[in-house]
Amino acid sequence: MIKVAPSILSADFVNLERDIRHVADCGADYIHVDVMDGLFVPNITIGIPVTAAIRRISERPLDVHLMIDRPLRYVEQFCDAGADILTIHAEADTAENNLEALRRIRAKGVRAAVSVKPGTPAEALEPYWGLMDLILVMTVEPGFGGQKFMADMMPKVRTLREAIERRSPGTELEVDGGVNPETAKVCVEAGADVLVAGSALFRAPDIAAFIEGIHNLG
Ligand code: DX5
Ligand code: ZN
Repeated sequence: MIKVAPSILSADFVNLERDIRHVADCGADYIHVDVMDGLFVPNITIGIPVTAAIRRISERPLDVHLMIDRPLRYVEQFCDAGADILTIHAEADTAENNLEALRRIRAKGVRAAVSVKPGTPAEALEPYWGLMDLILVMTVEPGFGGQKFMADMMPKVRTLREAIERRSPGTELEVDGGVNPETAKVCVEAGADVLVAGSALFRAPDIAAFIEGIHNLG
């Protein structure tokens, strides 16, 4: 089954609890929390206190996507706030510091993950094999929901699927950005097994049907 992680960036922030409970009732596998610092990306969203508040009302695992500069500074606080999967960006610091961040995440008993922006090749993940429970491939430039899916990222997804099968079969492969019922098929054909969906999912007239449709792709 392909997993679905609704991105709450497209939820109604005034009614965050209602929207999170609703997507969980509709079958969401993870709740995707987009953290932005106004430095790594040109936008500012959710931080540690809101992540902790979401943890208190979410029955589903929190898939926390850190789009922040030098995440080593904050990973332990996000683990303590209740992240179940914590993703850092390969571009956000040196490999040495990122490795330390992944070790600290795992030491907290949290699943560690690394994301690559569209311009970053799969090879940038080379230092992190053995420490990645999930790899996140961006199919838009991080920063905003509602952008167009970049189909030209699919060769990278295929390369990473092959690498995972050879080197780390338990690692999940997630795609984030512009996922809708059509682009979801393309992602799954390329080897993704977790799909983030924000604007298309929250706009869908029937969210349960939207999620079920993706579950059934694999
Ligand atoms: C973008 C975020 C995504 C985004 C997805 O920087 O990482 O999670 O919210 O939203 P859609 O599905 O609308 O592209
Ligand atoms: Zn995201």
